[in-house]
Amino acid sequence: MKKTVALGVSSSVGIYKACEVLRGFQKAGVEVRVVMTPNAARLISPLLFSSLAGTRTIVDLFEEPEARTIQHVALAKEISLLCVAPATANVIGKFAGGVADDFLTTLFLATRAPVLVAPAMNEAMVLHPRTQANIARLRALGVEFVEPAQGYLACGDQGWGRLAEPEAIVREGLRILGRTESLKGTTVLVTAGPTREPLDPVRFLSNPSSGKMGYELAREAVARGAKTILISGPTSLIPPAGARTVLVNTAAEMEKACLKAFPKADIVVMAAAVSDFRFKETRDRKAAKGEIGPSLAVEKTPDILAALGRRKKPGQLLVGFAAETHDVLAHARKKLEVKNADLMVANAVGNGRAFGTDDNAVRIIARKGPVQETGTMSKREASRVIFDRIEAELEKKRR
Ligand code: C5P
Repeated sequence: MKKTVALGVSSSVGIYKACEVLRGFQKAGVEVRVVMTPNAARLISPLLFSSLAGTRTIVDLFEEPEARTIQHVALAKEISLLCVAPATANVIGKFAGGVADDFLTTLFLATRAPVLVAPAMNEAMVLHPRTQANIARLRALGVEFVEPAQGYLACGDQGWGRLAEPEAIVREGLRILGRTESLKGTTVLVTAGPTREPLDPVRFLSNPSSGKMGYELAREAVARGAKTILISGPTSLIPPAGARTVLVNTAAEMEKACLKAFPKADIVVMAAAVSDFRFKETRDRKAAKGEIGPSLAVEKTPDILAALGRRKKPGQLLVGFAAETHDVLAHARKKLEVKNADLMVANAVGNGRAFGTDDNAVRIIARKGPVQETGTMSKREASRVIFDRIEAELEKKRR
């Protein structure tokens, strides 16, 4: 089926290159709907874009062609990508702040499609800490960027801020479009969050996992078209749209849910920080302080990843996580072997690293080959890198 891209055009001087971006998508067989900001429509007539696109350019939020449809919502559902080129500091700031005062900014909030932004502005504006903070905020939400280039700027300056070349923008857009269905027909099982092992109704053994990494991984699986099952321990996060979320409390409950879903899964990503121990005895009523002795007996919880590793069929890909405070790689390698996983994602924890944060730096380890290191990035971006690698491994496996 033909895919549709909304091309957002704002009022940077680089606007003339937007025509080339439009053409580039069309040449690749993609339908383009152009959305201009009112300021952009003062720089170039919307008619030019309408003629190139073969559809009417949208500028005004309140100009509804048919009373029965709400245009920004209809377009938001129809598109497979929102590509904004050029994007001014103003548009980036509005996206980052959730301001929706024209069609383009409203579309940004209304769509669940991936978003690609190609900034174009004066160097001082690009490098301004406010703009950089807005870009970082958007990246953390999953928005992708085509970096502005260095060169001759409209103001006569030389420097950063020039709109990237149209070919680079189109290439990146097509790559994202390709990704939106790369896991179609596949079932992905993700575990996330901590588990809680109760002592009594008000006390438990747990860890500081926030579930953010696992939720982003589930979101990424959905974005790639996979049927996604998220099995989550207690977190304060909103379940990702499009995934089937199963909420559990203890390691035993997580194990039961995983064993049930496992036979259907093609890819399993165990990002949960399962508690390794639980109390040997639990009570139905709150124990008074005096009733509890100086020590409490604990026992090991079931190792879910290892259990799945034993049951793994040749077509299934199993990914584990290793959160370590020291000797990260050595521990992760050992776990890869012992638990019969195909990939291990290692991250350093402790001293404020990884647990509960929005950022992560991961190392991906396979049986063979070099370790893939990401450097620090948002968990949203890390989930993309991890799934790119998962897809590459799956292809190797199935070849
Ligand atoms: O052995 P360790 O807990 O460090 O292993 C981490 C990996 O094993 C993670 O992928 C985690 O989800 C999984 N795990 C598990 N069941 C446990 C403990 C860990 O599935 N009881």
